[in-house]
Amino acid sequence: MPGTCVVGLQWGDEAKGKIVDLLGDRFDFVVRYNGGANAGHTVVANGKTFKLSLLPTGVIRPHVRSVIGNGVVVYPPRFLEEVGRLREGGIDPAGNLALSDHAHVIFPYHMEEERLAESEASGKIGTTGRGIGPCYQDKVGRRFGIRVGDLLHADYLRDRLRYVVPFKNRLLTAFANGHADTLKPLDPDRVADEYLGYAEVLRPFVTDTSRLLQDAFRDGKRVLFEAAQGSLLDVDHGTYPYVTSSSSLPSGIPGGAGVPTKAVQRVIGVVKAYTTRVGRGPFPTELDDGPDGIGERIRKIGREYGTVTGRPRRVGWFDAVAVRYTAALAGADEITVMLLDVLSGLPELKLCTAYDCGGERTTHFPSDSFQLERCRPVYETLPGWTEDITAARKLADLPAAARRYVDRVAELAGLPVSVVSVGPDRAQTILV
Ligand code: IMP
Repeated sequence: MPGTCVVGLQWGDEAKGKIVDLLGDRFDFVVRYNGGANAGHTVVANGKTFKLSLLPTGVIRPHVRSVIGNGVVVYPPRFLEEVGRLREGGIDPAGNLALSDHAHVIFPYHMEEERLAESEASGKIGTTGRGIGPCYQDKVGRRFGIRVGDLLHADYLRDRLRYVVPFKNRLLTAFANGHADTLKPLDPDRVADEYLGYAEVLRPFVTDTSRLLQDAFRDGKRVLFEAAQGSLLDVDHGTYPYVTSSSSLPSGIPGGAGVPTKAVQRVIGVVKAYTTRVGRGPFPTELDDGPDGIGERIRKIGREYGTVTGRPRRVGWFDAVAVRYTAALAGADEITVMLLDVLSGLPELKLCTAYDCGGERTTHFPSDSFQLERCRPVYETLPGWTEDITAARKLADLPAAARRYVDRVAELAGLPVSVVSVGPDRAQTILV
């Protein structure tokens, strides 16, 4: 089964989209198996730029079949908006895009639930506000979950919403904690009418994607699994509770796409040459060094602002302890080092090789976030380079200091580097 997975080994936004794009021609299927419109990727096709959150990156390639697997949570207006934007740009995904009938659906009450939960200082996670967590909560809770396939059965959907919505209204009122006057109770029939309208447009895309993929494997097709978010945001193995609500590691593939465990043969781990994180949670190598500091400089040059929310990303040095941890969990065969050009011009660069946790030195990533909060990074310093490296197309084109930096990242991660990215353009890539 020649399946490949592209997965971020940090806290997301590692530029996985560029790697999927580079590999795009070598695959027949591109599959999303987790998350929803909390992800964000920018793709260029027909000379136009498309910002996608929910649709797989493969959707811009006419010969690639794109799949939204059962493990994804779907907000229909977003799906339709992204399909609409592609159509305006001359790309019609009909016939090329498949949406799992088992994927769960995000409703307005999910967004509202999240907005209220996030408006309280205690327990705030710093989410993207897209209703992701509450929808997954309903999925595993089973009492209120509604799947894409259910949208196609009008009577069932209406009955289900007449049961779910009044309960959600009561829940939201209780959640509003004295601000219930700011809430407008939802009307089940209006929600049903709205979603039945979406259902008609979704219908041609909806299918049993698990069977589709099993047939694809049987026919020897090449399948690429595209992880959303990063491994450190995985609900089980990330920095819980500051994580997303799905399994972003490749271990999420069998469940989230409905394929056998052995479907994945190759795992490509994507890392930035430094580290970023959006939202709350521990971040040992964070550069919190003010408006004139290195952190701000990297943020500006790397345009480190969230694709979905526009929030400034937190920025820090490369953390080899964290990457070794996620590379092992992901079973990464290789790494790709992205955004190396952003580090040009810094006199020296730091790499975190170990943590000092309360006086004890360790090279292991603590499995407990609260322990991680107390860990301080132990750095190794390497010389920087002043040259512009954006025109480099092979390793030999890089200044010696940049080559040394990449070599050291590979050595610390314990994996070979297969790609180095030196700019956003497809051409600004070194294939090692
Ligand atoms: P949620 O996925 O919206 O529930 O957010 C949970 C955490 O994951 C927050 O810290 C978000 O900022 C973060 N997060 C979710 N999606 C992404 C992503 O695609 N890139 C980076 N961070 C993300």
